[in-house]
Order: sequence, then C-alpha cells, then structure tokens
Amino acid sequence: MLVSAKEMLEKAHAGHYAVGAFNINNMEWIKAILLAAQEANSPVMLGVSEGAGKYMCGYKNVVAMVKEIHDFLGITVPVALHLDHGSFEGAKACIEAGFTSVMFDGSHFDFDENVAKSKEIIEFAHSRGISVECEVGGIGGTEDGVTSNGEVADPDECANIAALGCDFLAAGIGNIHGKYPADWKGLNFDVLAEIQAKTNGKPLVLHGGSGIPADQIAKAIDLGVSKINVNTELQLVFADATRKYVEAGKDLEGKGYDPRKLLAPGAKAMQEKVVAMIKQFGSADKA
Ligand code: 13P
Repeated sequence: MLVSAKEMLEKAHAGHYAVGAFNINNMEWIKAILLAAQEANSPVMLGVSEGAGKYMCGYKNVVAMVKEIHDFLGITVPVALHLDHGSFEGAKACIEAGFTSVMFDGSHFDFDENVAKSKEIIEFAHSRGISVECEVGGIGGTEDGVTSNGEVADPDECANIAALGCDFLAAGIGNIHGKYPADWKGLNFDVLAEIQAKTNGKPLVLHGGSGIPADQIAKAIDLGVSKINVNTELQLVFADATRKYVEAGKDLEGKGYDPRKLLAPGAKAMQEKVVAMIKQFGSADKA
C-alpha cells in the first residue's frame, strides 16, 4: 500500500535524517528506486512532475503502474507517490487519481494568491489523508520547461504558508534544479535556519538535490531539511551507463539490442546511486 508522506517526514525530522524523493520517468525508474529503497530498508518518495505524468500517459496510469510494480516486487518499506511542482489543477487531479502526496507550487503567484490556493489544496488533500508540500521562493534553473532564477525565500512568508497546515515546506535557499554552475554560491544556511525557527519545526524540503556537496547536504539536514529531491543525478547515471554499453558495441553482440539488456546497465546504475544517496541522507534502516 502506498502511504502519505506526513509520518515518514515527521519521523525523519525528529531523527535528523532526510528521505529521498526521486523523480520517476518510466517503469525502469520506478523499479530501480523501489528496489533500492527495499535494499536499503528506507522509506522513499517517488516524485512525478506534470510533464512526466503526461509522458507516462496520465496520473491514473502512474498510480496503477506504481501500485502494481510495488506489489509485484513485494516492497514492504513505506512508499509515497508524490506530485512534484504541481499546478492547482494538477494537484487536484492527482489527489483524485490516487496519489498519496502532492506538492502545490504556488511560488510564482503573488503571495496572497499562493496562500489562497495552498489553503484550498491543503483542505482538499487532508480530507482524503493525503500529505501536502507548499513552496515559497523559486528554485533556480529549468525543470520541465519552467525556468526560475532562484530567489531566496522570505522567512515570514514561509511562516505564513506553514501556518496554513501544509505537512512540509519547500523554500528557495539558493538551490537550483539541474547541474550546478561552477560559480554557484552554495546554500544560504542563515536563511534556512531562520525559516526553520519561524516555522515551528515543520519538515523542510531541499529541491535540486543533485550535485550538492556532501557537507552542505549534512548541514541542511541538521537545520531541518527532511526531504531531498533528486532528479538530474539519476538521469545522468542512466545516460552514462547506457552510453558505455552502446559505445562498447554490446548492443551488437548476440541479442544485446534486446531492450531488457540495453536498459539493464542504466537501471543498475540508478539503483546503486539511489542506495548510495539513501545512505548519505541517513534514511537507511529507518523503514
Ligand atoms: P535536480 O534535478 O537538480 O536533482 O532537482 C530535482 C528536484 O528538485 C525535483 O523537484
């Protein structure tokens, strides 16, 4: 059974570790992440962007695929199926389709509109036992065609959104989706500490979790980050392993072109990367 993310993130917050929220794209991603979480005995979140939802033929199909793969593999660790950067309409659709967690990202609206829409999604989701993530301040970079310069969140606005009753809160602190540029200034820990102080111990979310140095990840967790989003990292290891397979001519040996063989090195690389990140975030053996 898929579960809400509320309990796993509250436990993570109390235990000073973070749960990984890994974005999925297709069956290989779902399998690799679920098998990794089971191997590491860790709770896990599967993130679905609206674009990935469309790619996987709609939210209902995503729910059906994840549930069936989860049951078929005999997964016993807690798993939440979470909409990543949802629009108002997307969040409602995912709640109705059977997601167990949603993010409503109203950070690009003016603040009053973000408050009003966040409130409505929180009420709708909570009436069905579904957890909700809200966002204040943009995350830099481009994801799913949406580009943001990455503004640092206002801690008072974070306090207002947290008080609406969302279960966890994403706040821009200099983090960026995609690869970090060489001149990246790093995470803004002063603002992160202030946000946590003003949000009464609400579990915080760190987007753009690919490529952040380990010491900064550890410090962010120390300061209240309980969920870390990872997308690019898995795309990179999948592409790298697949390229090596093809460049070594393995697709031309015997039946190496069989998709089950062609996609296997990438899937294995993703599973290994997820296990490593789970260990780094501290959620191994916390299922
Ligand atoms: P990365 O692609 O940088 O890992 O970011 C993922 C993310 O934050 C999804 O919301």
